[in-house]
Amino acid sequence: MVLPIVGSEEVKVTPWEAEAFVDYDRLIKVFGAKALSDEEIDLLKGLAGELHPMVRRRVFYSHRDFDVFLRMFKEGFKCALYTGRGPSGHTHVGHILPWIFTKWLQDRLGLHLFFQMTDDEKFWHDEKQELSVTNRLAYENILDLAALDLDPRKTHVIIDSEDIRYLYPIAVKVAKKITYSTQKATFGFTDSTNVGMVFYPVLQMTVAFLPSELYGEDVYVLIPAGIDQDPYWRIARDIASSLGYPKPAQIHNKLLPGLGPEGKMSSSKPETAVYTTDDPEVAKQKIMKAFTGGQPTVELQRKLGGNPDRCSIFKMYEMMFEEDDVKLQERYHACKTGNLLCGECKAELAERVSKYLIDFQRKREKARNNLSDFLLRTKFNPPKVSK
Ligand code: TYM
Repeated sequence: MVLPIVGSEEVKVTPWEAEAFVDYDRLIKVFGAKALSDEEIDLLKGLAGELHPMVRRRVFYSHRDFDVFLRMFKEGFKCALYTGRGPSGHTHVGHILPWIFTKWLQDRLGLHLFFQMTDDEKFWHDEKQELSVTNRLAYENILDLAALDLDPRKTHVIIDSEDIRYLYPIAVKVAKKITYSTQKATFGFTDSTNVGMVFYPVLQMTVAFLPSELYGEDVYVLIPAGIDQDPYWRIARDIASSLGYPKPAQIHNKLLPGLGPEGKMSSSKPETAVYTTDDPEVAKQKIMKAFTGGQPTVELQRKLGGNPDRCSIFKMYEMMFEEDDVKLQERYHACKTGNLLCGECKAELAERVSKYLIDFQRKREKARNNLSDFLLRTKFNPPKVSK
């Protein structure tokens, strides 16, 4: 879907593709979301005791009713988190960005997380894809949740193709509220889109209502996810009240750019993505080959400085791999003034990412025997729909 932007320009951000350096301020205007304000940030700080760097730096930068969600939480209403993954391949570091923050929210606010693995979506989306492959990848991707230390007692994974009995009683009601014309206008579907894809959004919306059915009371749900997923929530929020559910709230993250000249970090361009399963040496090589905001020669870099605002390497530091705000500022300045060369900056990142992956992969492998602890079906009975 190409979204018209104020003026004559266009920005392409859909659940399936996105540019590397998006005009995020314009995007929230077009999507009709709200910029995260100091007010919401203070509210979060009051409840969580501190702020995550991704909020301080506005990596999570926009929202729908985040303030309402925090107020409901503060007043003691039942609340939960919801996010997900389309298992089209192994997980890359862009995917784990929202999950890192989700884990922080889980710890700080003590919330249960419902996590959807859409093996059906990724099967329908790609003509050549096998369902057995996306299903196997769903289990591989659960290992990444374990490696992030999400609490299995509070993390409940739904695998669409296997757990449909949890979703279907709600999905039939959701589906009845949505017309084909809304689906086309929201997702850009055409006459040649297979009907699996046309139905799929119903399932992604349904999980936002699942906690209310599982607990038999209104549950206020917050969805931390990339802004590319926003189209689903616009519809879900429109129909929630008529189905008797609270509107799900969202907090949106910006998208980590890929290491190539264009596009967000994406599974469809493996050479420009760092996967959690990459051999640390391979990850280092990808980083060393990355496209940067630097000048073509060392002389020019020293003279003119680089452009960290349009650099995939600087964004990796800013969004994930540098916790210290002062050090991040120093790096920004050193790049701009030509004191830092791209080779040095990449080598340092390559080292950090490689260390991160070694630790991550150790935890990932350790989790193989405890995978079922994360599955919703081992903990909840399917809902008897009350609404
Ligand atoms: P998927 O697998 O495309 O993406 C999973 C999550 O990762 C985010 N994301 C990124 N974040 C930062 N930088 C990037 N380069 C980047 N690429 C992807 C996405 O925004 C998402 O939060 N249909 C969904 C699966 C799903 C889902 C959900 C996602 C089902 N229910 C609820 C979020 C919330 C999908 O294919 O996600």
